[in-house]
This record gives sequence, structure tokens and C-alpha cells, in this order.
Amino acid sequence: MVKTVGILTSGGDSPGLNAAIRGVGKAAIGAHGMHVIGYRDGFRGLVENRSAPLTRAELSGILTIGGTILGTSRDKPHRMPVGKKTMDMTDVIVETYQRHHLDALVCIGGGGTQKNAQRLVDKGLNIVTLPKTIDNDVEGTDITFGFDTALGIVTDAIDRLHSTAHSHHRIIVVEVMGHNAGWLALGAGIAGGADVILIPEIAYDVEAVAEAIRHRSRTGSEFSIVAVSEGAMSREEAAELQKAEASLVRAKRASKNGQAKKRGVRKARARTRVADIQAKLTNSTLQLSQRLEQLTGLESRVTILGHLQRGGTPSAGDRLLATRLGTACADLLNQGTFGVMVAARGDGAEPVPLEQVVGRRKIVPMDHPWIRAARNVGVCLGDG
Ligand code: F6P
Repeated sequence: MVKTVGILTSGGDSPGLNAAIRGVGKAAIGAHGMHVIGYRDGFRGLVENRSAPLTRAELSGILTIGGTILGTSRDKPHRMPVGKKTMDMTDVIVETYQRHHLDALVCIGGGGTQKNAQRLVDKGLNIVTLPKTIDNDVEGTDITFGFDTALGIVTDAIDRLHSTAHSHHRIIVVEVMGHNAGWLALGAGIAGGADVILIPEIAYDVEAVAEAIRHRSRTGSEFSIVAVSEGAMSREEAAELQKAEASLVRAKRASKNGQAKKRGVRKARARTRVADIQAKLTNSTLQLSQRLEQLTGLESRVTILGHLQRGGTPSAGDRLLATRLGTACADLLNQGTFGVMVAARGDGAEPVPLEQVVGRRKIVPMDHPWIRAARNVGVCLGDG
């Protein structure tokens, strides 16, 4: 029987985290008579024994607040910076869990958090997770909280960029977060009426993008909005990265076969090559804008929305989703269902075994209705 439960938030913050903490906490205390402890700054709070009781008072008034009252970090239990070293702190987390007499731990986060939570399941801890991220890329759930708010923020930004792009007869290239998934750029691009939407799932041909913009100019629209996902790549960039990643996989396989030192050097080289390409890609939105200017003869400007997309008050949709999943989480704790993520399924919530979630990323499938809808309203997706 669960009497004492811990909660932490981990990974990048997102709107709806406080609504989720409140949902879990209020239901755990009110409906099930549990005692709730919050851990600071993700898994690090358990390592450094930084916690605070979450009573009705702490859980009150936080529903509408962005960020997380607990703080967050991207620290991983098995590879945590401690002083100048990186150490495996998993056993310290287990010790704190036992010392605090926790019966279960709720980990709220994205794909990385699900993976870290599974590591604690493997150590015998009772874990339940909740899916949050503005990227909407967690496997096994219909949607993650944070996404709906970010969708609104990006759509609003695209709306505003329209009037300035139109007035100056310019191209505006707006970079949208989303990591390696295109949900946010695609969703907000459609909702905001972007003319071109570039996502990581479709390697783009810059000539095809330029032609779509030139076509608009020829037909009387001398401005264009290009919504580009931060992970989007041109065909050439995608091919270069794919080649480097393939040689890293080969190098890793060879070193697994025990072919010693030379293989280690090869692996390190392959890793550096992948990192170099990824670093180069961080400037690709600027380069795309310059290239489009050359190819179309129109002036082009870049807007990088950055962390604005994660800030501020959660939308009504995210508050509702986080409360729905949070309260369902408390019910699962009470039933003694562990090792699961509470997934959104239609109007309900469903436990999904963590092994079915970790190591996978939910990307936009090519037959998704949003792809069809975008094409059918004449959006260029960069593939000709
Ligand atoms: O996962 C959420 C996210 O905002 C991604 O969209 C983005 O790639 C990343 O986090 C940025 O991380 P950080 O805040 O650590 O720079």
C-alpha cells in the first residue's frame, strides 16, 4: 500500500508541469490519504537530498503558473556531473528513496526522463511517469502536456510575423523548437497559415522551397512565411549526417567485437564527425534564409522563437490534460500499478509499460492527416 510518494520534474521545463504536480498531489492526499514529498531539480534532488513536503498549501495556487515549482534539470542518474567528475549516482538515489520511506516515485518528463525512470525501475523502485514536453515526441501517448500551449505561442508568433512580412514583401523564416520531431512546426505552421513548413521527417530541397516562394511572387503574394523546425535538414545535410551516423554505428559494432585500441580511436573519430555536423546544423536556419534570399531575390529575415515557446501560463487544454493524467497517476499509485507511464488515450488515461516507451521517439508519420491537410491547402513541405 502506498503511503508516501515522491514527485520530481526532469528535463526541459514546459507549461503544465505545475498542473500535473497539483493533480497528482491533490488526488494522492485528498482521494487516497497519501503523504507527498517534492524533490528539487529533477533526479539531482534525490542525490543531494533536497526535498520539501507537498501539502495542500504548497499545491494551492499553482495551476496557472508556468515552469515547475520543484525546479528541473537534465541530470541523468547514471551520468551525473559531481564536482569535476561524471558519476553513476543511481545507488544514492535508491538510498534516499529508502531513507525517506518512499513507497513510490512519480517522474514527470519527456523521452529522456522515461529512460532514466526505467533505470530506477531496474533497481527495484516503484515508479510511475507522466509525459510532458512541448515537442510531443513521447512514444505511447496520444499527446504530451506542454505541446498545446507551445502550439498556441508559435501560432500567435506566425500570425504576428504575417503582417510584417506582408508589409515589407519579405520572406520570414521562423525557427520552431521540437527537437527531432516536427509536430510543433507542422501544427503551428498549419494553424498560422505558413506557406512553407520544413520538418525533420522530410529532408528538404532548397530549390523546391525557393520555387514555391517564387511561384507565390508570380501569382501576386510577394511575401512568404517559412516555418522551420530546429531539427529540419536539407537533403544534402541529411545525407551527410546519415553517412556519419552509419560509420559511428559500424565503429561501435567493431569495438564491441573486442578489436581493441585502433577501434576505440575510430569510434572517437566517428563520434567527433557526428558532433561536428550537428554543431554546423545549429546555424542552418540562418543559412537557409540567406540561400532563399539569393534564389528568390526577395529580402529574408530570421526569427528564432527559442525558449519563449516553453514559457508562461499553460493553456486550458494543457491544464486539463495534466490534471487528467496527474489524478489518474494517483489512482494507479493507489492500485499499486508501477513501472508504467500514464498515457493520454482519447478522453481517458491508460498505463503503458515503460519498456514500450523508452528508446523510441514519436515522430510525424508520412501518412498523418496533418501532412495531408498541409499539402491540400498548398503548403510546400520542401520535397518538391
Ligand atoms: O525538449 C524540449 C526542448 O525545448 C526542445 O524543443 C529543444 O530542442 C530543447 O528542449 C532545448 O533544450 P534546452 O532548454 O536545454 O536548451
